Amino acid sequence: MKPENIKWRVVDKPGETFKVHRSIYTDPDIYQTELEQIFEGNWIYIAHDSQLPNANDYFTTLVGRQPVVISRDDEGKLHGFINACTHRGAKICRKKKGNTKNWSCPYHGWVFNPQGEILDIKSLDTANYPDSFQKSDYDLTRIKVDSYAGFIFASVNTEVQELKDHLAGAKVFMDLFNEQSAEGLEILPGTSVYTHHGNWKMQAENGVDGYHVDTVHASYFRIAANRNERAAKEGAEDKVKAIDPLTEQPRNGTYTLGNGHQLFWIDVPNFRDRGLGMEYDALVERVGEVKAKWMAARLRQLVIYPNVILFDGISTQMRHWRPLSQDETEVTVNCIAPVGEPAESRTRRLRQYEDFYGASGLATPDDLTEFDACQDGYYGIKSAWHDFNRGMTQIIDGPDDVVAEITTEVLNSAPHMADEGLYHHNYRNWLKLMTRKMPTQQGAV
Ligand code: FES
Ligand SMILES: [Fe+2]
Repeated sequence: MKPENIKWRVVDKPGETFKVHRSIYTDPDIYQTELEQIFEGNWIYIAHDSQLPNANDYFTTLVGRQPVVISRDDEGKLHGFINACTHRGAKICRKKKGNTKNWSCPYHGWVFNPQGEILDIKSLDTANYPDSFQKSDYDLTRIKVDSYAGFIFASVNTEVQELKDHLAGAKVFMDLFNEQSAEGLEILPGTSVYTHHGNWKMQAENGVDGYHVDTVHASYFRIAANRNERAAKEGAEDKVKAIDPLTEQPRNGTYTLGNGHQLFWIDVPNFRDRGLGMEYDALVERVGEVKAKWMAARLRQLVIYPNVILFDGISTQMRHWRPLSQDETEVTVNCIAPVGEPAESRTRRLRQYEDFYGASGLATPDDLTEFDACQDGYYGIKSAWHDFNRGMTQIIDGPDDVVAEITTEVLNSAPHMADEGLYHHNYRNWLKLMTRKMPTQQGAV
């Protein structure tokens, strides 16, 4: 798609107005260009280290439209390949995950190792290949794979920038997740995968949308308060002890972190009711007061652009997604927790997770209802422009006093979680990715 067909859809006049044309959520040509320029041009979150912990573990998924396999060799190093046999293209690995020393293609039996090297071509001695045929030319096609703080990313663009540069200001906030235990994090058993009607960009918007919380999730907060009152009246125990970041109107805000990454935060009054908050004093001892406050007493939702959010608020969740069309998105959610946390904290974390984040929790269906209604509304194209002007006059260049305690790698700050300035960064980045020149995707012959 030509850049001039894309640029007009973002109206960006700093200090005056910021609008986005709703065709970016419905236009099939925009969607195709997003697959090529963003999902096949960028780093994409794939998996967590704890999902392939052993030598010869592998994991299959898609990056944009392309099937890939990520493997760990016997020295612990990660490798990534297009999951297509170099003979005639059959998928080599057909399970979601597994462990094997050799991958044998089920079609004609060519064999590869977890480093992607070809080990055997069936009946090579009677093959009558031309002189130009070299077995070593048929290793699996490599993709980029790298990890930071236990989070594994892949890119099918071999010219993509280094992962640490791509993650930019998000790294310090990823550390705040990973360092919650000296042994890092683990994905807890029980993955939920669901598909919803709605463009993928709504996932990245909604995850840092502080403006919708008290309307869309009003019923959740009412139920949690009622449960609490009833338990107090009946002398019973409220086992969930829901996190309530809204009643006392604590300090909150947002940050933009470079390359589309964004964070929204709220101080949590009853943070000692959280899994990590239950061990707050020991945490202060281990990581110091500033980090402990950021980890346990401050709700944080971090979008790592374009396809994952790390939630650390009402409980802890990793949510990543894959666009299926301009109108449909597949979402994968997991509860994530510090390795080795005390049983009582783990139980509290799980009860709070089920209550709010789980696929049948009180938050997810409410958000999905809005995604569905928005996607329908976007086809009312006579009403064409999204308004992202809230908080325009309060945007701060660089870090504010709160975040300056832990990092200066912040592009913009905003003093209210309901402000919409962080979407300016989101859509400037989108426009940059959508209109840049990409390396040719033909692949070497
Ligand atoms: S397609 Fe794999 S061996 Fe032929
Ligand atoms: Fe929500």
